Amino acid sequence: MLNVQSALPVNIPAPSAAPKPELRRAFGRFATGIAIITTLDDQGRPYGLTINSFVSVSMEPPMISWNVIRGSTAHQTISRTGRFVVNVLAKNQRELAQKMTGPIEHRFVSVPYHSSTSGLPVLHDTLATFECDVHSMIAAGDHDIVLGTVQQFTHRDGRPLVYWQGAYATAMACDGDH
Ligand SMILES: Cc1cc2nc3c(=O)[nH]c(=O)nc-3n(C[C@H](O)[C@H](O)[C@H](O)COP(=O)(O)O)c2cc1C
Repeated sequence: MLNVQSALPVNIPAPSAAPKPELRRAFGRFATGIAIITTLDDQGRPYGLTINSFVSVSMEPPMISWNVIRGSTAHQTISRTGRFVVNVLAKNQRELAQKMTGPIEHRFVSVPYHSSTSGLPVLHDTLATFECDVHSMIAAGDHDIVLGTVQQFTHRDGRPLVYWQGAYATAMACDGDH
């Protein structure tokens, strides 16, 4: 039976006036997958970061997007390289997700990957990969929206790693909650 009390929306002031933790909690009500963006830095070393802002955008031409924090190493690296791989994580890859938000010099230590035909690092055992060229980077507040044109992709069956309410989860664990 529906719990009417908890189904009532919580009224929060307009975003500009809302305290940031509340806005973060509100955004976090939307469950996402987790992906790792990989590319090469300007010295040719593998670079990666964990994201949850991946979105499929267009079928023809095939395009995807994700958001990158302005002023970050990630932003600088993607702007310079102009290409990247989206690696969609499986449910058993939580540690990898955590590693790719840690110190940059440790992110690829003991991480299995190979180089794509165009030389970009592709992580192993993921659910899907999309090798992309940067189409454009669109300013959006404190982030840029990175639009990518998909050049190559792979995928396989399996359960995803999920991010919901500020924590990692799996699709199984979400079933029947609330
Ligand atoms: C669950 C999760 C999701 C994230 N999603 C994004 C994202 O969509 N875009 C982004 O720029 N950073 C995102 N981050 C933060 C980056 O992973 C983090 O800033 C990373 O350490 C990049 O740091 P760097 O620019 O110093 O390499 C996320 C972090 C976590 C834990």
